[in-house]
Amino acid sequence: MNLAVSADGKTSDVAGLPSGWTSRADHDRLLDLRATAGALLVGRRTLVADCMTLTCPGREIQPLRCVVAGSGEVPEYHPLFERAGGAIHWLVTGEPPSLVLRFPAEVTVHRGTLADFLTTIKTQLGVDHVHCEGGGTLIRMLAEMDAIDELHLTLAGHTLFGGQEAPTPTGSPSDYLPKSLEFRISRFEASPGTGECFMSYRRHAQ
Ligand SMILES: NC(=O)c1ccc[n+]([C@@H]2O[C@H](COP(=O)([O-])OP(=O)(O)OC[C@H]3O[C@@H](n4cnc5c(N)ncnc54)[C@H](OP(=O)(O)O)[C@@H]3O)[C@@H](O)[C@H]2O)c1
Repeated sequence: MNLAVSADGKTSDVAGLPSGWTSRADHDRLLDLRATAGALLVGRRTLVADCMTLTCPGREIQPLRCVVAGSGEVPEYHPLFERAGGAIHWLVTGEPPSLVLRFPAEVTVHRGTLADFLTTIKTQLGVDHVHCEGGGTLIRMLAEMDAIDELHLTLAGHTLFGGQEAPTPTGSPSDYLPKSLEFRISRFEASPGTGECFMSYRRHAQ
């Protein structure tokens, strides 16, 4: 997974400010990370807030574009459906399975749990490396499943969001995770010119 966090540990402000508050170098790193993935995974709220197309410039074979939604709500217009890219897979974890979802483009709809979806991505769609770009609610679900192997963070020292309710890398401030997960730092690259620091961590299971 890959996220940008402010100096006070927030991923957005209380109003849900979309992406675009970090440097060009951060965006380039995001694209480099996308290029290594067989599938990109985002929560529906991030897809909408950040107007994501989930594409990878210059890559002949595009990663699958996977969206995790709870409800049956589909945006009427969204650039994801307009821009050519990898096949779109849309998970709905809630809603009655009989509800018919209408999309303005070809989309494969999956119903069930996030765990089932990850299994489908690996076993049926043949993807070993899924790259998640948030948001915090989805990352919390993945952390609760202990499904995160590698974590890339851009610490944006130039921004303080403040606000008790502003989201963190594991979503809205709430209860602790059921257990701590240990990660070890594998990369630390400070960029004083941009006021940012790029870090990577690998899961270290006991
Ligand atoms: N700084 C960064 O790097 C970064 C990265 C990503 C996002 N963000 C910001 O984070 C915000 C969005 O993050 P978010 O945490 O609100 O949402 P999110 O993680 O992007 O989306 C979570 C999605 O999970 C779905 N869902 C499925 N099962 C669920 C369940 N059991 N419980 C709850 N949700 C479930 C919800 O669907 P329904 O909507 O259908 O209920 C929801 O859309 C935006 O402001 C975005 O700009 C920042």
